[in-house]
Amino acid sequence: MTASISDFLLHWYAKHSRDLPWRTPPGENRPDDPAYPYRVWLSEVMLQQTTVAAVKPYFAKFTEIWPTVQDLAAASEDEVMAAWAGLGYYSRARNLVKCAKEVAARGGFPETEEKLRDLPGLGAYTAASVAAIAFGERAVVVDANVERVVARVFAIEEPLPGARKAIREKAETITPDENAGDFAQAMMDLGANICTSKAPRCLLCPLSDQCAARKAGDPQRLPVKPPKKAKPERRGTAYWIERNESEREVWLVTRPGKGMLGGMRALPDDGWSARSDGSGDPPIATNWEELGAVRHTFTHAHLTLSVRRTLVDKTPPGEGIWWPVNKMEDSGLPTLFAKAARLALV
Ligand code: ADE
Repeated sequence: MTASISDFLLHWYAKHSRDLPWRTPPGENRPDDPAYPYRVWLSEVMLQQTTVAAVKPYFAKFTEIWPTVQDLAAASEDEVMAAWAGLGYYSRARNLVKCAKEVAARGGFPETEEKLRDLPGLGAYTAASVAAIAFGERAVVVDANVERVVARVFAIEEPLPGARKAIREKAETITPDENAGDFAQAMMDLGANICTSKAPRCLLCPLSDQCAARKAGDPQRLPVKPPKKAKPERRGTAYWIERNESEREVWLVTRPGKGMLGGMRALPDDGWSARSDGSGDPPIATNWEELGAVRHTFTHAHLTLSVRRTLVDKTPPGEGIWWPVNKMEDSGLPTLFAKAARLALV
């Protein structure tokens, strides 16, 4: 039974693959483009925890500014962090520059999963996906889409995350020797468009005859997820400090390298990310106007960020930059602070 799953899937993929900017068409596994591994790596890093729709404009921007890994290696971390702003999980952007420098120094990407794992920031998933998609290695690629498809095809009842071992073992049995990159992307497309977490479209599925969960009657039930933990509520305050010399400018800082939104541009705040109650002092003693609050959800917490504004004529103490208000779009503020800025700008 298992021998033919990849055949059915690849046949389906040849007709139904999504046309995505980092992909080659089905069957064209190693195009004659020296930047192809770079594009695959960049897309896979961007796609972690992030939707295809959100990634597309960032992938276009990055490959326009930095068309090769050598170009990215020559970029400053600040530039890359600013270009990444809004995509989330910012440690990915910091690792991106480190990895690009290492790859450029080596003269190119290593071509096996094992050697790719040595690069900074490349976890098991990225190493396997780049090895399979960029270099055609028979690597077993398991992301959340693949997990869902495999858990259903093999009716794996054990709840996540404990089921991951069994899922990986089953994924390994169906990964073909050839076309592992197409196979991985076909599993992802199947998971994204057909084998969806809610209301799977089994009538359109190329694996429906092989699917044990479908035979059992309720594929949507799998994989069994652990109950969601309630996210803690945090509070904090951000400060919009404006001056108006020849034009409106706002005082922006760069957050410390480690920790939440590390290395990103930001509005000064009261230290909410270090203290759960955000009870720190404002950056300057002055009269503050209350602008309201914005809500933002991180992986581990919900945050309510109050926003206060003041107009000054002196530069606040500490490091920062006066940024023209009419160029906010280019400031590289991550989504949380972009939401806060919007309160000050309406
Ligand atoms: N998610 C992660 N990698 C992907 C890829 N190569 N294609 C589509 N979705 C993905």
